[in-house]
Amino acid sequence: MKTVSPLDMDMDTEPAELGLAKARDLAESLRGELNRHAFLYYVEARPEISDAEYDRLFRRLQGLEEVFPELATADSPTQRVGAEPQDSFETVNHVAPMLSLDSSEKEEALRRFDERIRKAVDEPVRYLLEPKLDGASIELVYEEGVLARAVTRGNGRRGEVVTDNVRTIHAVPLRLREEDRPAPRLLAVRGEVLMNISAFERFNEKLMEKGEDPYASPRNSAAGAIRQLDSRITAQRELDCLVYDVLHMEGVEPFHWDHEAVEALRDWGFRTPERIEVVDSVEAVLKYHKAFEEGRDDLDYEIDGVVIKLDHVDVRGELGATSHHPRWAMAYKFEPRKEVTRVERIAISVGRTGVLTPVALLLPVQVGGVTISRASLHNREEVARKDVREGDTVRIQRAGDVIPQVVERIEVDGERRGEPFAMPEQCPACGTPVYEDGPRTVCPNRYGCPAQLKGRIVHFGARNALDIEGLGEETATLLVDRELVRELAELFDLSREDLVDLPGFAEKSATNLVAAIQARRTVELSRFLHGLGIPEVGAAVARDLARAFGGFQAIRDASREDLEAVEGIGPRMSEAITGFLGHPRNATAIDHILERGMELVVSERGPSSDALAGTRFVFTGGLSRLTRGQAKKLAEAAGAKVVGSVSKSTTHVVVGEDPGSKYDKAVELGIQTLDEEAFIALLKAAGVSVEEA
Ligand code: IVH
Repeated sequence: MKTVSPLDMDMDTEPAELGLAKARDLAESLRGELNRHAFLYYVEARPEISDAEYDRLFRRLQGLEEVFPELATADSPTQRVGAEPQDSFETVNHVAPMLSLDSSEKEEALRRFDERIRKAVDEPVRYLLEPKLDGASIELVYEEGVLARAVTRGNGRRGEVVTDNVRTIHAVPLRLREEDRPAPRLLAVRGEVLMNISAFERFNEKLMEKGEDPYASPRNSAAGAIRQLDSRITAQRELDCLVYDVLHMEGVEPFHWDHEAVEALRDWGFRTPERIEVVDSVEAVLKYHKAFEEGRDDLDYEIDGVVIKLDHVDVRGELGATSHHPRWAMAYKFEPRKEVTRVERIAISVGRTGVLTPVALLLPVQVGGVTISRASLHNREEVARKDVREGDTVRIQRAGDVIPQVVERIEVDGERRGEPFAMPEQCPACGTPVYEDGPRTVCPNRYGCPAQLKGRIVHFGARNALDIEGLGEETATLLVDRELVRELAELFDLSREDLVDLPGFAEKSATNLVAAIQARRTVELSRFLHGLGIPEVGAAVARDLARAFGGFQAIRDASREDLEAVEGIGPRMSEAITGFLGHPRNATAIDHILERGMELVVSERGPSSDALAGTRFVFTGGLSRLTRGQAKKLAEAAGAKVVGSVSKSTTHVVVGEDPGSKYDKAVELGIQTLDEEAFIALLKAAGVSVEEA
């Protein structure tokens, strides 16, 4: 491919004067140039032009596309700034399943893995070694060399389509490079979306300045950014993406060795993990692991181990896979990072469920690039067991997403020890005598304790619940202390006037928070469910419930058996759910929220089951309970495909009032017909609820 010097380009003529044909040529050259420079800058880290020059080319292309919108192709770098916000994400099947990795921190496990492989494989063994990146896994699909979609891992078989968001990541090629090898007709690769530690720290600082809660790890932050409904926000998060696996290819010869695949990935313009090596012994793996563990702080992104893969792709099949992970690869993880610091004070935090947690407030310390200033001491028994006191020197650890923990106390010569720590006898927030429940200490004042209400507010507005920007711990504290909010529903009654004089608020922030809350009166059912704080119901279960029942009333009405019919919901959960929703105080509190005019949308009505996968439905005649649109959506939610006309490949024809010729055709071809009732029954059996379609 020839590269065009910007000097050869007509950079000054008004787009309209150029005419469409010339503008098209110019836009194509600019796209090629800009994509090449982005590759040099973000992937190769050897820029050839200045930022200012890049901006100039970029603006020229933007100008052309403004005048001739048809020139804005999917691979145009102008698409990287983000698109219009979406209401929800569509879900699709992965081109190939995205399995996870068997993992261990133990050398023995690695040795066993090696032995199994050597037994099964009838040739000298070679392993490809890579760092294990601690980010959010993503599938990228390229059709004819152009990025067609990006899908989150989801449950491994099916994920959410987040293409608009992924397009904003400069390290993701919008079009495969073809200088060194042609692009396959179809290519699906797997990689990891990361947030660099430096970007993460900058971002968290900004959040804290706004009084919002910081993210726990770069990985959480990256995962959150990739599931933003507004890709313009994702674009501001400075994400990175490394690609390490070819999931599927069509139109080119398959690779026999993984290291060949890595080379190809590089040729096509992906950023791949650094320091990939091919070795032939466990000893070499150990050495590699050690080197990375020692050097991990020199990287600007988080890794949590190394990945060992059988390099010879052709023999991988002989080893096979379990339902979760392949037998030809494993992750050999690092020990969690540890650091030593001092406990300045032990504070008690009262959570939304009334549990009192002792928290060590620490002299701030860097643990793997992330600043830590508090660590959980879990509960009464843990503190006693570790005998941690104020002023003690302690070892803390941080592993992945978990809250930093105090591992142990360290004896320091001559250090004077404080009083042994004791849990308070009364709730520090409301003064109610606490009770002990196993190792836990609990405040029983569920509806009167301000700390519990604060916790409920923060949880309600949290990122994977209603996602109300600006409603962090500080704000919740103000709202409760000033009695502006006495129950969750009252959040929706807040006005700008209520907020504007509060410390830390001004005109703009007050207006923004009110708007953010009001905007969430329309929200996905799963987020609402999660936000209620039902015991046992995390974000994932909330999604399952929303999918299965399709409406809030249906969940309220559900019996324990109904609930347990949903995959993954057992007796404990069903009891917690019915118990919570059935409790009169909770029911009233929920009614109050609903009275504020909530609109709960079921967007994740993605297949609740694949029960009807492989079927092709046709509708004919008028339906009475459902509209055509609803019927179609429901069928699709159960995994069916809905098509317009009857052919040999049609499997079901749903026949309503006054059917047309499609009915005759169905009879002629001997295709199964069913009326509306039978259709609804079929959906129900497939786990798709019809209540509030
Ligand atoms: S290979 C079937 N290589 O670690 C094996 N995975 O459960 C495909 N990960 O979800 C994965 N760095 O997202 C592979 N260099 C690497 C990786 C890597 C990070 C992630 C992956 C997976 C998780 C392990």
